[in-house]
Amino acid sequence: SQSFRITLLPGDGIGPEIMAVAVALLKAVGQRLDLTFSFQEALIGGAAIDQTGVPLPEDTLTQCRQSDAVLLAAIGGYQWDSLPRPQRPETGLLALRSGLGLFANLRPARVLPQLIDASSLKREVVDGVDIMVVRELTGGVYFGQPKGIFEAETGQRRGVNTMAYDEAEVDRIGRVAFEIARKRRGQLCSVDKANVLEVSQLWRDRISALGADYPDVTLSHMYVDAAAMQLVRWPQQFDTIVTGNLFGDILSDEAAMLTGSIGMLPSASLGADGPGVYEPVHGSAPDIAGEDKANPLAQVLSVAMMLRYGLDQPAAADQLEQAVMTVLDQGYRTADIMAAGLTAVGCQAMGEALLRALA
Ligand code: NAD
Ligand code: IPM
Ligand code: MN
Repeated sequence: SQSFRITLLPGDGIGPEIMAVAVALLKAVGQRLDLTFSFQEALIGGAAIDQTGVPLPEDTLTQCRQSDAVLLAAIGGYQWDSLPRPQRPETGLLALRSGLGLFANLRPARVLPQLIDASSLKREVVDGVDIMVVRELTGGVYFGQPKGIFEAETGQRRGVNTMAYDEAEVDRIGRVAFEIARKRRGQLCSVDKANVLEVSQLWRDRISALGADYPDVTLSHMYVDAAAMQLVRWPQQFDTIVTGNLFGDILSDEAAMLTGSIGMLPSASLGADGPGVYEPVHGSAPDIAGEDKANPLAQVLSVAMMLRYGLDQPAAADQLEQAVMTVLDQGYRTADIMAAGLTAVGCQAMGEALLRALA
């Protein structure tokens, strides 16, 4: 039997609730397919701040580096929102991504037929939508220097962040996106703000140049404001989208709503080598934490991405994705994806239904 070391980062808010469901399911699929998982839990985010004073303890990073894959739930919460930047949960997540070199964040948004009426958009608009957002994750305005809040000569404070990409950063995310588009429907839309920003002009130049190596992929470019509009006007036009860190953050939440709920969207954060981090697109949902209301499906689908992209276990990934389809067919819905005529179940009950569906 093959065995894998998995680091679990449950984090904050609904994190531990959805993580419990995901781990139970991973164990169950492992038993069925003779895969052994050894789990090690580590601290990140607010939970780490409370116990160690920092949002990403050195031990956590070391442990992640020594594992085959990292499964993260979510971080953040009101009680840590006014701490200084180095002690905020979000800083821990950014340090994890950058510490592991995870420059490519894959965020698939697929409209499932069972949930077509859970979308806030009309059925005919979202029917069949299947988009892959490839978000650059370790550069851009999230990481550019200088950054900070500075005292200006006027005596006023000035907040500064810098949006910057160098060519190598654009090239490596560009290549990931072209490769993905090639295996999908062969259409890549690069999203930028090249009409205004120099950083985007360089981005567009490099993505266009790379296009020569991928003659089988149809490349288009779109400004981010127009892309935000087109995503809700005619989302079926998109196959693969490649974009920078901030635009990708915003557009992937928007794409989530095509599918009915952000509680449905998984992601994979990958680097050139070493373990990837698999995490839902959503956050710690502090407004419903501890109430057994969270939708665990984004977390479960993130486990499926871990099995597929990180551990090369496509059969196990298929079984988990199939279990998700089965419970939706059976009418199980958490509150965020409720539909008329059905009753909402909690996070745990959804987990139990998934385990039955798997068996
Ligand atoms: P959020 O994604 O946590 O929540 C937005 C809304 O969606 C809330 O109403 C929430 O209840 C709902 N929601 C999210 N996930 C859900 C799920 N699985 N099931 C049902 N409903 C769900 O975003 P926010 O409220 O803007 O941020 C809350 C905290 O999470 C902040 O501290 C933020 O920094 C952090 N955050 C963390 C991550 C991450 O860990 N990757 C991502 C986004 C936000
Ligand atoms: C996400 C989140 C993070 C981001 C925050 C919490 C740092 O919104 O994973 O989408 O902006 O990348
Ligand atoms: Mn986000």
